[in-house]
Amino acid sequence: MKTFTTHSAEETTELGRKLAAELKPGSIVLLRGDLGAGKTTLIKGIAEAFHAAEAEAVTSPTFTLIHEYRGPEVTLFHIDLYRIDTQRELDTLALDDLMEPNTILLIEWGEKFERFQTERDVEIAIEHLGGDDRRLKIKGSSR
Ligand SMILES: Nc1ncnc2c1ncn2[C@@H]1O[C@H](COP(=O)(O)OP(=O)(O)O)[C@@H](O)[C@H]1O
Ligand SMILES: [Mg+2]
Repeated sequence: MKTFTTHSAEETTELGRKLAAELKPGSIVLLRGDLGAGKTTLIKGIAEAFHAAEAEAVTSPTFTLIHEYRGPEVTLFHIDLYRIDTQRELDTLALDDLMEPNTILLIEWGEKFERFQTERDVEIAIEHLGGDDRRLKIKGSSR
């Protein structure tokens, strides 16, 4: 497990840019942490590193549930399961159809479903330390 501490949103986005190098196409990444922890902020950096989206274009898919950021080599699916509570609702998203050798699934609140706890390649837990400080713990790897 690797641990990082950041002190601003910009630092978390920058960390996302660096972490992207460790994410392999075809993998599932779970992002854990309370509302406002910084999950979406980290994904901004990941999306930039894959040349899949500008940071400003990465926003929370709380209502849309899935955002797609298409890079030249890898397509990122940014998924937010905060509002998804039942297996039925999950099934309607057909996430299996999004898993391809050239895609990465970045899932916020994925730990709500046991399936993703089992299947995830990487898990990033973000903890609010007070103020703008955040601790990020990274488990697993896909490279
Ligand atoms: N160190 C930090 N890392 C990430 N976000 C931070 C940090 N400090 C302050 N923030 C702010 O906290 C909020 C995190 O929001 P967001 O990334 O949408 O959280 P989540 O997706 O986990 O709900 C943003 O408003 C961001 O500017
Ligand atoms: Mg979010």
